[in-house]
Amino acid sequence: MPMPTEKLNAINSEPSLVAFLNPPLVYNQDITIDYYHADTLPPALVSWTFELVKTNLYHLYVRSNDGWDEAGKRAELYAPEARYLIARSTTDPADLKGFLMFQMVQEETMDDDYMADVAYCYELQVAENARNQGLGEHLMRLLCQIGLHWQLEKVMLTVFKENKGAMRFYTKKMGFELDEISPGACLSPRKAKRFDYEILSKPC
Ligand SMILES: CC(C)(COP(=O)(O)OP(=O)(O)OC[C@H]1O[C@@H](n2cnc3c(N)ncnc32)[C@H](O)[C@@H]1OP(=O)(O)O)[C@@H](O)C(=O)NCCC(=O)NCCS
Repeated sequence: MPMPTEKLNAINSEPSLVAFLNPPLVYNQDITIDYYHADTLPPALVSWTFELVKTNLYHLYVRSNDGWDEAGKRAELYAPEARYLIARSTTDPADLKGFLMFQMVQEETMDDDYMADVAYCYELQVAENARNQGLGEHLMRLLCQIGLHWQLEKVMLTVFKENKGAMRFYTKKMGFELDEISPGACLSPRKAKRFDYEILSKPC
């Protein structure tokens, strides 16, 4: 893993990456989106975010090449650079709807000499009873705005090929495409078949 650039160090030192949006961030009035760094996430939200990932994706992870790694997932979710957008009812903060966790990182490109600065969406998770109401789209759009504001090149994410609903959401609804480093884009079909995920991206 190469050293982060000065630009990314500066971004990751910012107390808030959404201050330019003049919080509170709201969606359809009834949903408020709170911003946290991993180390400021209250314990109740640490539990809830973890459980939501497990509820939504465990069935895909256990069938994946790498399986479900509980400790690894916790380490990834609450890494120091993890930034959270947590959607909850405006009137009842305990009524949690979904969340997006992202990190500002450098990612490989097909050019060995060049790393791209990206807003990487590590998790987009919406509670089952809050889906299909545009919340997932809203959270992704927020991330694109954040990436644009901080002058990053693109928004990136990894998705299991088997997660057909999410794949449709990202590609058909949100306009993401296979990133150049995704197995399906840079390998022969025979080699790409061994991978159970694709990497999608979209310019900020
Ligand atoms: C993918 C996900 C975040 C989308 O959130 P959402 O709030 O329902 O998204 P929106 O309401 O903005 O958009 C829903 C649209 O995407 C499609 N879609 C999204 N998720 C889908 C799913 N799991 N199955 C089928 N269609 C899905 C719907 O057809 C819908 O299209 P429409 O608006 O044209 O009717 C949500 O389904 C989810 O949390 N899934 C489980 C976790 C997951 O797979 N996360 C992605 C991991 S990479």
